[in-house]
Amino acid sequence: MSNNSEEELVALLNSYGRDERHKTRCESHPNIAMIKYWGKENVEKNTPSNGSLSITLDVGTTITEITYSQISENEFFLNGVKSQITKRIQTAIDYFGRFLPNTYFHIESTNDFPTAAGFASSAAGAAALIGALAGFVGNTCNPIEFWGKYGINLTRLARQVSGSGCRSMYGGFVEWIPGNDEDSIVNQIYDENYWSDLIVISIPVKTEPKKVSSTVGMQRTLETCPWMNLKTKSIVPQRIIEAKECISKKDFESLAEIIMRESNELHASCAASFPPIFYLNDTSRMIINAIHELNEQHGKNIAAYSFDAGPNPFIFTEKQNETTVIDLLVNLGFSRPIMTVAKIAPGISVQFIE
Ligand code: PMV
Repeated sequence: MSNNSEEELVALLNSYGRDERHKTRCESHPNIAMIKYWGKENVEKNTPSNGSLSITLDVGTTITEITYSQISENEFFLNGVKSQITKRIQTAIDYFGRFLPNTYFHIESTNDFPTAAGFASSAAGAAALIGALAGFVGNTCNPIEFWGKYGINLTRLARQVSGSGCRSMYGGFVEWIPGNDEDSIVNQIYDENYWSDLIVISIPVKTEPKKVSSTVGMQRTLETCPWMNLKTKSIVPQRIIEAKECISKKDFESLAEIIMRESNELHASCAASFPPIFYLNDTSRMIINAIHELNEQHGKNIAAYSFDAGPNPFIFTEKQNETTVIDLLVNLGFSRPIMTVAKIAPGISVQFIE
């Protein structure tokens, strides 16, 4: 942002009296990557080693509300419990705080994720935090557009809080572009209504905390798996082009193969790291084999699995095959109530409250 427009913005934002500024509430949802983010080019800024492609899912909602703090410090409550302000959250607070000198924020964040879904809440949390801060400080219900007018891309700020969180800023089909801190931003390819038949079924196969965090795992893979340069610089960029082509044609069968290959390669790369990292377990592998058998029986791909840094499967299919896939999972021994069926969701939405 040029000095002139920053001064103009600071003057505008400080022209609202305390009573004129609205308490804001931001809602957001998690996302699941079809093409994965796995490796940071810059650890502090969370810039990725390769691009990624996701869909935002209505599997749960994070709600973050922001108002003025009544005490002279920033406060952060997570699910009703006063919580530590991590370095990454503090960076976001400091970024917006510089536009409103001498202001402290009271931040309350809650999420209603079904534990069954197996989604990490950090992505939705980062998007809701940035949306709420940007809405409160900007005194706007459309923070992406408002801050964008001043050259400030909110996905860049969400990315600094949680890498994959930047993709939850938008709904539908979302691409995260690799690059440096300035240009590694996120674009929506299609909105949440574009392919409404696409669904993702998730099942918890294990709920213990993972032994190797995604941050540690991805950096170890980058440093020690011998083919990561080929994967990040050549295989993934080509795969993103192909996946976008499939999405443009709503070609589930071809997209399914891309999703499964991508997941398999991520976990093969983890296993080829040193020391090796294993996120999948026997149950995950049983599901992988069962989905391949199902697709073979149908003579085409009607379902695809994808695994993040854990053993929980995310199974992509289309609405017309939902029952077939659920029957398969029930036959494998999973009970229907533990499955979560998610549709494509919108991106952040900000409202004024009270
Ligand atoms: O954003 P993080 O640090 O939780 O890493 C996410 C990594 C994966 O979930 C495995 C892949 C992705 O693109 O979401």
